[in-house]
Amino acid sequence: MSTVDLESKIPNNVGLRDNKRLMRALERWQPAFIEWWKDMGPTDFNEHDVYLRTAVGVGKGGWAHFDYVKMPDYRWGIFLADGDPLRKIHFGDNIGDKIWDEVPGEFRNRLRRLIVTQGDTEPASVEQQRMLAHTAPSLADMRSLFQVNVEEGRHLWAMVYLLHSYFGADGRDEADAMLERHSGDPDSPRILEAFNEPIDTWLDFFCFTTFTDRDGKYQLAALAESAFDPLARSTQFMLNEEAYHMQTGENGIGRILHRTAELLKEGTDPKSVGAMPMDLIQKYLNFWVTRSMDLFGGEDSTNAAESFASGLKGRYREGDGIYKDPKALNVNYKLEVPEGMKMVEREVPLRRAMNALLLDAYVADCTRIVNRWNRDLEALEVEERVYLPSKRFNRNQGVYADAFFNPQGELISQEEFVKHEESWLPTHVDRDYVKSCMVVVREPGRYANWIAPHHQGVNETPLDFEYVKFH
Ligand SMILES: [Fe+2]
Ligand SMILES: [Fe+2]
Repeated sequence: MSTVDLESKIPNNVGLRDNKRLMRALERWQPAFIEWWKDMGPTDFNEHDVYLRTAVGVGKGGWAHFDYVKMPDYRWGIFLADGDPLRKIHFGDNIGDKIWDEVPGEFRNRLRRLIVTQGDTEPASVEQQRMLAHTAPSLADMRSLFQVNVEEGRHLWAMVYLLHSYFGADGRDEADAMLERHSGDPDSPRILEAFNEPIDTWLDFFCFTTFTDRDGKYQLAALAESAFDPLARSTQFMLNEEAYHMQTGENGIGRILHRTAELLKEGTDPKSVGAMPMDLIQKYLNFWVTRSMDLFGGEDSTNAAESFASGLKGRYREGDGIYKDPKALNVNYKLEVPEGMKMVEREVPLRRAMNALLLDAYVADCTRIVNRWNRDLEALEVEERVYLPSKRFNRNQGVYADAFFNPQGELISQEEFVKHEESWLPTHVDRDYVKSCMVVVREPGRYANWIAPHHQGVNETPLDFEYVKFH
């Protein structure tokens, strides 16, 4: 078991005290991070006491401690999951070799790219969500938002630690650049497209935490298999926190659907009372699911093949031994691709289809969630249902990006797509309507009219708990 040092300026279980140079470098980065938080993090809430959990260890239970804290004083720490010194590389070309405690020279650039791309998403989402607290539908939701935000901040710390520790001057430059790019900045945007989309309503936020954080889960899970042990252990621990983010989204959308169903059942038009009509919720799902799918990258990718072959990025749950061939050789992945106005089957060597495989695991996960929402709608005895759009629909990346499909995945003409676009994806009018529903509710235990209350409070608190103190 690693020792947790909570007294240090930067709480950690990576032995920072024994590495003075690294500690000094990170302590120099820390004030820049706090400045960034104050400038680009949640606006106007830095002086409020918020009931937040903070990671204080890496054990199975009890890794998180709940208390009131002002967000700029949050104890962002560096934690790696406990490792297994005997662990061997378990996939790709180097199976059976000892895992790496240092970065092998030949993989240095590729590995740095993976870490920077992952790391960049963490502060990006905090920036995207910075205005949301002003329209929180309840104090409990406001708390959830801040919880997600501070933990994305910690995830940035996790990646910055790796850059500083293992990538020398280049790594330090990359860590600085993490605070210089900004979401939606025309001159210096965040690296991935979905992280430059504004999140200015809570419907967007809950879609983002359900679907975009869930892309994060799959990327982290693939990196948690990595032969580069510090990356594997870092991402393993991040997944603990990520679970709460996805749960926030899934419950949030579930509560919106629940409220809408209640209204429909009593014969009230949701729009007449500032709530969300079902078709509008579906359009938001369509938008965020497809933007999140784009984050998986091309279905046929030599880049993904190389990351797998070299042992940097595995398949989902590779370590659980669920794949017959840990080298992923001599097998093809069947990809259906558009050719003119018909679909044809193309075989891709499995290693090149690693992104497609990860996306398939993601789709299965999302399907489970949509089914759960639909079970609730069924229990409420309304006829409406939501669906998961096909992975071909509305894509900007990969093999489906240059053709047009309906949400069911059928190949259609551009004309047909344009004709229906407004019924499939949010329009300006829809976005304005959703914005008009966003009203802040700060009285403990009360909720805005467009969303059902939580079932239970966090950390066994009552629902009328004062999660954020305003005086
Ligand atoms: Fe994260
Ligand atoms: Fe997250």
